[in-house]
Amino acid sequence: MDDQCVAQRILDHIEHGTTDLGQSIWREPVDNYRSNERMAEEVELAFRRTPTPFCPSAALLDVGSYVARDAAGTPLIAVRAQDGTVRAFRNACRHRGAQLATGSGCAKALVCPYHGWTYNLEGRLRGVPHEYGFPGLDKELNGLVPVCVTTERFGLVFITQQEPLLSDESLDHLPPLIAPEQQLLATRESEIAANWKIMLEGFLEGYHIRSTHRETFYPYGFDNLNLVEVFGRNSRVTYPFRRIAKLAETAPEDRRVEGLLTYVYHIFPNVLVTVLSHHTNVIVLEPVALDRTKVISYTLTNRGSSTPELRETVERDAEFVDQTGAAEDRAVIRAIQVGLGSGANSVFTFGLFESAIVHFHRSLDAMLEHATESAHLVRSD
Ligand code: FES
Ligand SMILES: [Fe+2]
Repeated sequence: MDDQCVAQRILDHIEHGTTDLGQSIWREPVDNYRSNERMAEEVELAFRRTPTPFCPSAALLDVGSYVARDAAGTPLIAVRAQDGTVRAFRNACRHRGAQLATGSGCAKALVCPYHGWTYNLEGRLRGVPHEYGFPGLDKELNGLVPVCVTTERFGLVFITQQEPLLSDESLDHLPPLIAPEQQLLATRESEIAANWKIMLEGFLEGYHIRSTHRETFYPYGFDNLNLVEVFGRNSRVTYPFRRIAKLAETAPEDRRVEGLLTYVYHIFPNVLVTVLSHHTNVIVLEPVALDRTKVISYTLTNRGSSTPELRETVERDAEFVDQTGAAEDRAVIRAIQVGLGSGANSVFTFGLFESAIVHFHRSLDAMLEHATESAHLVRSD
């Protein structure tokens, strides 16, 4: 839906006291949050074998800029090469496996900190100190090991670590998420003691706004008034602010929604792009254990707004959200994680208001089932 459609649909919901509804409820087995075997399947199939956003393109602006981090348990490094394309490699030196870099930066070449083997930005091994100690070393065969596919789309760098499971059109219908002029303002990392799916679910419904965020978000937003759209395995949930109601007085073709709502895009499986009033966040949820998730968030300017005062406004907004609403969300997420051990529930029921979460679980299940079926086919061949 374009912004005008979105505005009209929200105004209709305000008028009728309604919200978008899914087609059916979903019952997710609680064991799927508690099983190491299930998580290993998710990481292997949904993370390593589908195109997964690694970082925004804005984090790799110049030739030689790199981002190194673990993705689905694999240390990776993405770097902008001489020809302007992004290459991604397994972040391990071909000598004895040390990581070439950590965090982010900009370099002319990737030099291993241990003994100084040097790789160019295309990953080729170019320098070996005292090379005569390695008789017969073929440098051409000892370049960095690339991931299966690296692409840039919608302002994001996507990495597919291993041979993809399905030919994938899942991304084709996504709208352009991040425009070239949007600048990276900050990168943050934190950890939460909860399963990655519980963390994800917290972003994908507005049914909890009044109960959880009574004093923080609810005074500005609606309780349980959301739009849900799906694109392949991905989705977008719209959270309008109360002040959007004034658009009823504006002619439909003149309606602008910036600053009047929050868009939350879910890029399957583990990335959220949240477009807020003054900034955009790319939030990556990396499972590090069954009950631990690393949260990496990249804060960018919004489209068409990069004045110097903006940084302060964004910092203030981000700080407010982090200390208030996001803190409330983290407390609930922790409580759900603790509740898993209570034995009270064998399933969690996601209702008609939680249809973006239903879509996520349905897509994840379909992917894991498809993989199991293909494995059977291969075995019976
Ligand atoms: S481990 Fe990298 S140069 Fe030795
Ligand atoms: Fe929330």
